[in-house]
Amino acid sequence: MGEAKSLRDTLGRPLRDLRISVTDRCNFRCVYCMPKEIFGRGYQFLPKADLLSYEELERLVRIFVGLGADKIRLTGGEPLTRREIETLIAKLAAIDDLDLTLTTNGSLLEEKAQALKDAGLRRITVSLDSLDDAVFRRMNDVDFPVERVIRAMDRAHDVGLRPVKVNMVVKRGANEDSILPMAAFFRERDYVLRFIEYMDVGHTNGWRMDDVVPAREIVRRVSEAFPIEPVAPNYTGEVAERWRYTDGKGEIGIIASVTQAFCKDCTRARLSAEGMLYTCLFATEGTDLRTLLRADATDDAIAAKVADVWNARTDRYSELRSGETVRLQKIEMSYIGG
Ligand code: GTP
Ligand code: 5AD
Ligand code: SF4
Ligand code: SF4
Repeated sequence: MGEAKSLRDTLGRPLRDLRISVTDRCNFRCVYCMPKEIFGRGYQFLPKADLLSYEELERLVRIFVGLGADKIRLTGGEPLTRREIETLIAKLAAIDDLDLTLTTNGSLLEEKAQALKDAGLRRITVSLDSLDDAVFRRMNDVDFPVERVIRAMDRAHDVGLRPVKVNMVVKRGANEDSILPMAAFFRERDYVLRFIEYMDVGHTNGWRMDDVVPAREIVRRVSEAFPIEPVAPNYTGEVAERWRYTDGKGEIGIIASVTQAFCKDCTRARLSAEGMLYTCLFATEGTDLRTLLRADATDDAIAAKVADVWNARTDRYSELRSGETVRLQKIEMSYIGG
C-alpha cells in the first residue's frame, strides 16, 4: 500500500502511531483519572459484547499498518485486566516490524511479564506517581502499595521488556514532593522516568490550571539536585522532551502537554475498546469502526474510511486550550487510553 503511506492530515501530519484501549476497566481509581465519586459501583462500563475481539483488533491493526502506522501501544483502563492479553500481543507481534508496547499500572505485571515477553511484546511503560507509600496509596485510591509496582518493573526489566519507562503524573499538592525522590531512585536503575503535566483529559477529574506543576518547574527542581542537559528527540514528534544527567546516570523525560503543546507533530490515532476511532486525546467525537467490521465491510472499505477521517483531521487541542475548551464534554482517559 505504498500510495496509502502518504496519508497526511490537514496540517501535513502522517499517521504513525495507533494507541489501542483494550478495556475501559481498571483496578485502580487514580484521583486524576477515575475518581471514585464517578467511577463507583453504579458506573456502567462497556458490556463485553461491545469490545472488539482480538481477531477484530488484529484485522484493524493490519489495516492501520497499511496506512503507515508502525507503532502500536496497548492501553486501557488497565490492559492487563483484559483476559489473555498475551493472545492479542502474539497476533500483533506477527505483523511486520512493529514497535509494540503497552502502558500498565503494574499491578498485574509481576506475574504476567514473562508471558508478555514470550508473546512478543518489545518494551513496557509502567505508571507510578510516588515512592512514598502513603502518597501513592492516596493517589491510586485502592490502597495499592509502591513496593509491588517496583517489583513488577524489576521483573519486566529482568525478562527483557526494555527499556522500562516510568510515567509519573505530577499534581500540585498531591505528589510534587515526590519529584526528587523519584528522580534519585530511577537514576540508579536503568529506567527512563517521565514526568507528565496533569492534563484536563475527560470532564470528571475537576482539573484546574492551579493543579499543574509546569515542566519548567520540574526541570528546575530536578536540576538543582542533579544537573541535567537537553538531549535531541529519538524521533520526530516524540511526546517526551528528553534530558540527561550530566554525570552519565541515564535520562528523564518531561511530557508538557499543558505548557508546551506538541500537536505540531502529532501522528497519533486512538482506538477505544469498542472500536471508536479518535484523532485526539481530547476528542469529543469519534468514528465507529466496529459497525463496519461487523457489517462485513472489506479491508479496503475500512481503510478508505480511516483515510477519510485522517485526511480531514484538524486536531491541535493543546495549542488551543482555554477556559472554554476545559469545560468541553471530552472522552474520559480510561475510555480513550492515555
Ligand atoms: P514512547 O513510545 O516511549 O516515546 O512513549 P510515548 O511518548 O508514546 O509515551 P506514553 O505512551 O507512555 O505516553 C505518556 C503520556 O503522555 C500519556 O500517558 C499521556 O498522558 C501523554 N500523551 C501521550 N500522547 C499524547 C498526545 O498525543 N497528546 C497529549 N496531550 N498527551 C499525550
Ligand atoms: N493527566 C496526565 N496524565 C494522565 N494519566 C491519566 N490521567 C492523566 C491526566 N489527567 C496518565 C497515567 C498513565 C497514562 C496512561 O496516562 O498516569 O501514566
Ligand atoms: Fe487506571 Fe491508569 Fe487511570 Fe490510574 S491512570 S485509574 S491506573 S487507567
Ligand atoms: Fe495530538 Fe491532540 Fe495531544 Fe495535540 S492534544 S498532541 S493533537 S492528541
